[in-house]
Amino acid sequence: MAESNGKDERRVVVLGTGGTIAGRASAAADNIGYTAGEVGVAELLGGIDAPPGISLTAEQVAQVDSKDMSFAIWQTLAQRCAYWLAEPAVAGIVITHGTDTLEETAFFLQAVLGPSKPVVVTCAMRPSTALAPDGPQNVRDAIVVASTPGAQGVVAVCAGTVHSAFDVQKVHTYRLDAFDSGDAGPVAYVEEGALRVLRDWPVPAGERLAFDRVAGVASWPRVEILLSHAESRGSIVDALVQERRLGGPDVVQGLVLAATGNGTLHHSLEAAALRAQAEGIAVLRATRCSQGRILPRQKEVLRDAGALTPVKARIALMLELLSGERSA
Ligand code: SIN
Repeated sequence: MAESNGKDERRVVVLGTGGTIAGRASAAADNIGYTAGEVGVAELLGGIDAPPGISLTAEQVAQVDSKDMSFAIWQTLAQRCAYWLAEPAVAGIVITHGTDTLEETAFFLQAVLGPSKPVVVTCAMRPSTALAPDGPQNVRDAIVVASTPGAQGVVAVCAGTVHSAFDVQKVHTYRLDAFDSGDAGPVAYVEEGALRVLRDWPVPAGERLAFDRVAGVASWPRVEILLSHAESRGSIVDALVQERRLGGPDVVQGLVLAATGNGTLHHSLEAAALRAQAEGIAVLRATRCSQGRILPRQKEVLRDAGALTPVKARIALMLELLSGERSA
């Protein structure tokens, strides 16, 4: 769908990637037995009025269940965002996405684009065929955010709440209000088509990896996430190190250790991680707690990821490895 009512109109581009929001079930009462990523993004916009002075353009970038999100889709998505953001008439972008890896895509896009216009990732917990689908309201709210002057950066919109890409996390398996920003709190609320802003919009964190570098990457550095838990085994790390010694196209280059509490590790995992780091593998500790950050302690040999969750720390480490700037 591409509509325009006049040359002074500002535009919001809606990029579809699939998810439950585009899901279809055989019965309207069924909120869980559906297939994600079936309904086209142009169809999702049917019946949604754009705010006055805004025209909508729909583009299908992918059509997947977001559990199957890939680097290739991220690259295409980042490219399409960069293309549209460069258009002066484009006020902002909305991305329809599955809830399951939404926080990863949002963090990735914020890391590689750091946009000065809003890029709003939205979703639904119920399929489009549900008796009372939540997708249409979320899309409508996302369009409001994407067309609001002053809004910027990558944010997620779900259940009337605007979350920063840095903080957003899916925290519930079923509730419509499935996302949370932890200690940081939301950026804003959308109330009856108006924004109530609570704090600053996300801005680029530090030096960004040039977007062109990411767009051209054919093989992404392999970074694995390992969880520290009761009776953790360092032998898993040793096996990855051994595989790396044997060589090959896709050996591990980085490890994110999902650490307990304030970044602590089971002694067996920690000892193996130190051996891996000595062999040149980049190691990062991220807390497995859903809230809070790792407060640095003196004499830590393994770096920590601060407030980043393990999945976001993995993306940060991959980008660091791609930029060639890692400090093991
Ligand atoms: C998905 O992440 O694509 C499926 C689940 C959802 O969107 O809620």
